[in-house]
Parts: sequence; structure tokens; C-alpha cells
Amino acid sequence: MESVYAFVERALYGPDGFYEHGGRAGRRGASFVTSPEVGPLFGAVLARALDRWWDDAGRPDEWVVVDAGAGPGTLARAILAAAPACAGALRLVCVERTAAQRELHPDGVASTDRLPEAADVIVANELLDNLAFDLLERTDDGWVPVEVHPDGTTRPDTGGPRVPVATAAAAWVIDARRRLRPHGRLVCFDYADTTAALAARPWTDWVRAFAGHELIPDPFVQPGTRDVTVVVPWDQLPTPDRSTEQATWLAEHGIDELVAEGIAHWQAHAAAPDLTAMRMRSRVREAEALTDPAGLGAFWVGEWRP
Ligand SMILES: C[S@@+](CC[C@H](N)C(=O)[O-])C[C@H]1O[C@@H](n2cnc3c(N)ncnc32)[C@H](O)[C@@H]1O
Repeated sequence: MESVYAFVERALYGPDGFYEHGGRAGRRGASFVTSPEVGPLFGAVLARALDRWWDDAGRPDEWVVVDAGAGPGTLARAILAAAPACAGALRLVCVERTAAQRELHPDGVASTDRLPEAADVIVANELLDNLAFDLLERTDDGWVPVEVHPDGTTRPDTGGPRVPVATAAAAWVIDARRRLRPHGRLVCFDYADTTAALAARPWTDWVRAFAGHELIPDPFVQPGTRDVTVVVPWDQLPTPDRSTEQATWLAEHGIDELVAEGIAHWQAHAAAPDLTAMRMRSRVREAEALTDPAGLGAFWVGEWRP
């Protein structure tokens, strides 16, 4: 028997883990689609936010922006492609735990497996749900830790409610926040809910396994063959200075203007569209996906200041 935490750690990041065997976010050939993988629009909105915060900070000569849990570096690519006003000062750092994905990081970024000592902005998209967690189950003896049997079943199995324990996610937020410069901010995007709300739902709703873009059953069998994730119990993290939904956050940082710009560009070039015109047109479809109230738009966004 093994703790859930130890199982998830091994299944995702061990020598035979999911990420060491080519698991990653993306479209073709990848395992799951995240906001940066929908297309470059998410990164373009983030680039606007970076410019706003850089302005607010008095346009410093060096502006260290970290993409934490960067995967293959798609978000960093989109930020660079958006050519933000802060580009001359921007030092973009992709922090990714798995070597296989660090190899995919683009030119023009620093690629590393750990957070830098100091940063102006740390962004983490769908990182917290991918950090190891524990489960507790309510039994007649109180809340007890759930363990994983080698056959992939879990014990105890009384049918009582379960809750996740986000030990690694809470520790990560504390550590990341500590590294922020005085005007800095940490911004996490993820699927998240409160511990009480999760306790009221079957655990199989919020511990999820993915492979080949499909939600698949049995997160605790065949470690390494599937991504194992948890809906983040955000009330177990340090209290954010601000919480909102992804659709609201994107609207605040100008997604509608970027879509309008995309439509105008497409209309001006529709007679002889080039690649840029096609990309501009696709902003409409990307915005729909990123703000979908039944999907990515309902994601939680937590912001912490130092
Ligand atoms: C679900 S993926 C998200 C990738 C990317 N941010 C995206 O949105 O497409 C989570 C990534 O975080 C990485 N990761 C997990 N723990 C990490 C840590 N402590 N530091 C850096 N990266 C980590 C995983 O290897 C994985 O690539």
C-alpha cells in the first residue's frame, strides 16, 4: 500500500512517470489541451497584463516573468510573439520540472527546473492541479488517509466523503510568493473549488485521469500511462489577494479588444489572406473557448501580492 501523495508523485514524475514518457499539454499527439494550447490569444492577453504591471511598477530596466510549470513552453512563445512593450526589459523564465519538456522550450527564454530567487511576475497555468496531493476519507473513526493498493483500488472504501489535501500546492504557493519583488504578483489559473464543495461530490468527479485528450477512469492503475490531476481546493492555499474567474480576468486584460483587432485585420486581408490574417481570424474561436462558462472560462484565477 502507498499513500496517494507517493503514488501521484511516482506516477507523474518518477523514472517511469507520465511526464518522463512524453506526456504533455498540446494538440496533436499531446495528452490534454490547456488555455495556452488553445492558441496564441491567451498569451497575447497575458502580454497586455505584463505591460500594464510593468507600467505600474515604473517601467523597470529588468522585468523577470516566470512561467511556472511551463510544459513545452507554448505560453512563452505566445508572449514573445505578441511583442509586448516591455520586451526590451523582459527576461522570460520557463520553469519546468521534466527534462523532456524543457528540451522543447523556445529560444529567447531561460529554461530551468526551479524558480529564480526573485521575480516580478510568476504565472502558473494548470500547475497546481498537477502537484501531488493526499486524500482523506471520513469513516466511523474520523478522517483517515486514503491509501492506494497495488491493484489500483483505494482503502478505506467505506463510501464516506473524501477530500483532497493540497500539501504540495500550498507549499508551492508559499515558496513562489516569497520570491516576488515588492511590486510583484503571482497569478495561478486552474480548475479549483472549495474543500467543502469537493467533499459534497463523489471523489471520482474531482480526481481525474487523462490520456490522449480523453478523461479516463481509474486514476490509480498503470502509473505512468495517464495524467493524474485534482481539482484544486483553493481554500487550502494561502488566501489570495484576489480570486476571480478566467473569463472575467481575460475581459479585464483586454481579450475583447484583441478579438476586435483580429476581426478588423481579417476583414482588411480577407481577399488575399496570409498566415497572420488566419491567426487573427482564429481569435474569435479561441476567445469562445477561453471564456466558455462551461469550460476554461469558469477556471479560477488566484492572485497573490508579496
Ligand atoms: C498540466 S501541465 C501545464 C503545462 C502548461 N502550463 C500549460 O498550461 O499548457 C503542468 C506542468 O507542470 C510541470 N510541473 C509539475 N511540478 C512542477 C514544479 N514543481 N515546477 C515546475 N514544473 C512543474 C509538469 O511537469 C507539467 O509539465
